Amino acid sequence: MFLAQAQRGVDAKGTFSVALSGGSTPKGVFALLSEPPYRDNVPWAQTRFFWGDERHVPPDNPESNFHMAEQALLSKVPVPAGNVHRVHSELPDTGQAALEYEATLRQFFCLKPGEMPRFDLSFLGMGSDGHTASLFPGTKALGEQQRLVVPNWVPKLNTWRITLTYPVLNNAATVVFLVSGAEKADTLRSVLNGEFDPQRYPSQLIKPVHGSLLWLVDRAAARLLDDRS
Ligand code: 6PG
Repeated sequence: MFLAQAQRGVDAKGTFSVALSGGSTPKGVFALLSEPPYRDNVPWAQTRFFWGDERHVPPDNPESNFHMAEQALLSKVPVPAGNVHRVHSELPDTGQAALEYEATLRQFFCLKPGEMPRFDLSFLGMGSDGHTASLFPGTKALGEQQRLVVPNWVPKLNTWRITLTYPVLNNAATVVFLVSGAEKADTLRSVLNGEFDPQRYPSQLIKPVHGSLLWLVDRAAARLLDDRS
């Protein structure tokens, strides 16, 4: 799917833009992409990497989503350094980091005022609390519909995050949730089959406006789903 999306993007416009998710689940996909046959077939020179969210830590911190992707994929494939657009999460002021990332998106996607970037592919994960990117339950960023990137204070983690807003995520051509583990099963059922309650289950906000949504979930995470899903 990654390869197909990459080829489609390059064939159509000479570039493929992908927003990566963080956490641990994507490590498996990143490792696959770093090895043959994928390593030898992805158009790395035309592939542009972005992040859906980032922790408020330096890029060499083990908690950093950039760091995880660099270790698992980017350091192992011939992607030009200029194609990797990380969030400047080392900045003391997350507001400044968010503004800078917005500028990066506006420049790369040649956005006019009010326009949203359209990623060819956006990977997302889902926390067992129903968050996605750094859109956590009950947090301020859930209500943001104008900005592209915002800082978000997450009380339960007692930390700032930097995150794409859900209108940006919903403007992607393809959104892929990667969900694994039994600890996600109950929340996944609520997100997919329960009442629409995005303050409680922010992952429910993700509905691409003119794109596709694909949930790739393992058996453990899917064990409570009925065949409706
Ligand atoms: C992050 C991620 C976050 C992640 C979920 C799931 O910064 O942590 O972007 O949204 O996708 O927390 O994480 P796991 O894959 O580790 O369960």
